[in-house]
Amino acid sequence: MNPVPAVEVNQLWTAYPGHPPVLQGLDLRVEVGQHLGVIGPNGAGKTTLFLTLCGLLPPCSGQVSLFGQPLRPGQFRPEVGLVFQDPNDQLFAPSVAEDVAFGLRNLARPEGEIAAAVQAALQMTGTLHLADRPPHHLSGGEKRMVAIAGILAMQPQLVLYDEPTANLDLRARRRLIVFFATGRPHFSAGFPRSGADPGGVRSGHPVGSRSDLGPGIPSPPDGPSRPHGSPRPGSAPLTAPMIQESMSGES
Ligand SMILES: Nc1ncnc2c1ncn2[C@@H]1O[C@H](COP(=O)(O)OP(=O)(O)OP(=O)(O)O)[C@@H](O)[C@H]1O
Ligand SMILES: [Mg+2]
Repeated sequence: MNPVPAVEVNQLWTAYPGHPPVLQGLDLRVEVGQHLGVIGPNGAGKTTLFLTLCGLLPPCSGQVSLFGQPLRPGQFRPEVGLVFQDPNDQLFAPSVAEDVAFGLRNLARPEGEIAAAVQAALQMTGTLHLADRPPHHLSGGEKRMVAIAGILAMQPQLVLYDEPTANLDLRARRRLIVFFATGRPHFSAGFPRSGADPGGVRSGHPVGSRSDLGPGIPSPPDGPSRPHGSPRPGSAPLTAPMIQESMSGES
């Protein structure tokens, strides 16, 4: 096990301005290359956790470290990629290819490198044929895969998937599940800079959570889930976002 975890969260309290805290004393540790599922009902705080891990939502208190470096509020950490719960929040460029290139272009990477990374990410997600299409004309499932391509093009070491299979029909869901099952080896092959399997955290709901999360994440153990935080008063408990550990990448 790598002594420096990908994510280390200690006593995290997060609130939206003017509202009671959503996350109350959350502890979480994700090892490098590990795959975890976060499960909780609607409103439990899954998206809030992911927004906090990306630095988009500043914590009220507590510590968040990514790959051993403390996260500063508002700081952009390209080694962490968030696939938004709603792909419409993520896709905005006039074409799929431009959308997938956006992050790298923002980092002022050389055009040749951007073109290669975009090609690899589109290939990996099975969306190469959509490269010239406007994202807002795509189906929900196509948008989801393009949103994933945009994150993978950045070659993150950790990917946060916020309910990756939500709103997908059975066929699109299956395609995504196949992607989770086969995408990782392709990832290493596609991007020379990233030799390691990127770890991931996926969120889902208690009902049907296994299929929400995709493969690589085992079924919840019997009995009560391990508590990792306190619920917001009057809301469904975030004690439920069970952090499910996967076997993959725990070498
Ligand atoms: N911008 C906001 N301002 C105030 N409260 C918010 C805001 N965004 C979310 N909340 C509240 O924070 C709580 C947690 O929301 P969050 O979106 O993290 O839940 P979730 O677990 O992702 O739910 P879902 O399964 O529905 O996506 C909810 O009670 C929600 O109403
Ligand atoms: Mg959510």
